[in-house]
Amino acid sequence: MNKVYLVGFMGSGKSAIGKRLSTLLDIPFYDMDAEIVTRTGMTIPQIFETYGEPKFREMETEFLREFPDEFCIIATGGGVAMRAENREIMRQTGLVFYLNSTFRDIWRRVSTDTNRPIVQRSSRGDLEALFLKRKPLYLQSAHIRVETTNRSLNDITQYIGFQVLRLKNG
Ligand code: S3P
Repeated sequence: MNKVYLVGFMGSGKSAIGKRLSTLLDIPFYDMDAEIVTRTGMTIPQIFETYGEPKFREMETEFLREFPDEFCIIATGGGVAMRAENREIMRQTGLVFYLNSTFRDIWRRVSTDTNRPIVQRSSRGDLEALFLKRKPLYLQSAHIRVETTNRSLNDITQYIGFQVLRLKNG
């Protein structure tokens, strides 16, 4: 295994933890959304609006298929673990950590975000239904489930860092 993937719903802390983990382990950090934004020169809402969600999902899979083999951290987008092919690529090329949060925490973090088209088009109830629907697939994709409720970003980062070193060297 070479890559460290962080999966979980929007607002579960994938990017914030990924950046800290990258500093802790001294390996590069990639944010899938940011990489897709750089490649296309468009924002995520613009990509959804111009090409539609299915095309965005294709871009995510292409990113996973093509990404070079290196020891690094990848914060995935919240929808990445929904595709069987994506789950398979991640599990075969790295260690997958699922950041488990409560919907309450997630809603507090994302409800006013205008850069997330799925939040923009959903009511609180819609988003909670999506969260519940996705959860089993995050669990299916992950090697390790990480609880985030009432834990600091640093605490979570230390825990994942420890597990990465343990599993990589052991
Ligand atoms: C999405 C999550 C977003 C981004 C896009 C779609 C989703 O990533 O990929 O807005 O379907 O859950 P984050 O989880 O980083 O917000």
